[in-house]
Amino acid sequence: MIVDNTSTVDLVKPAEYGADIVVDSATKFLGGHGTSLGGLIVTGDEFDWANGKFPKFTKTDPTYNGLSYTEAFNELTYIIKARGNFLRDVGPSLSPFNAFLILQGIETLSLRMKQHNENALEVAKFLDNHDSVSWVNYLVLNMILLTNSRKNILKEAMVLY
Ligand SMILES: Cc1ncc(COP(=O)(O)O)c(C=O)c1O
Repeated sequence: MIVDNTSTVDLVKPAEYGADIVVDSATKFLGGHGTSLGGLIVTGDEFDWANGKFPKFTKTDPTYNGLSYTEAFNELTYIIKARGNFLRDVGPSLSPFNAFLILQGIETLSLRMKQHNENALEVAKFLDNHDSVSWVNYLVLNMILLTNSRKNILKEAMVLY
């Protein structure tokens, strides 16, 4: 299971809920400034890429002298394939300066995400109590409809779009 954790980065850890691969766009909250395009792929080490459903990972790759990714890299299969194959063929590569800018953003990530959540909740409550607003669709305000496990995830991630 691949989870895009872009909007709940630092708030929810999808791997703890069963995700095998987590992707994040660093262009949004991670960077926080909009100066740099970038992204992250985080892979776990438990998924069995040799389960017969992924021939592109198991069969030999003639562009790497007959290498089989699963045989050569075990739990690193996906990330090596992503770098050695997809990155090589498609080409996007983060410049050192953009990496530096994204790292600068990450230094304040946890503070910003906490504040985003507090702001989002205030906006939702304000709209929910406003006479001219007929309904607000914001899960945290409607927690009663959710199962306990979802409530626990939502306490960590309340960013409002
Ligand atoms: C949730 C989410 N994931 C990924 C992306 C892709 O991000 P990027 O433009 O950095 O490739 C976007 C872009 O809008 C997004 O909203």
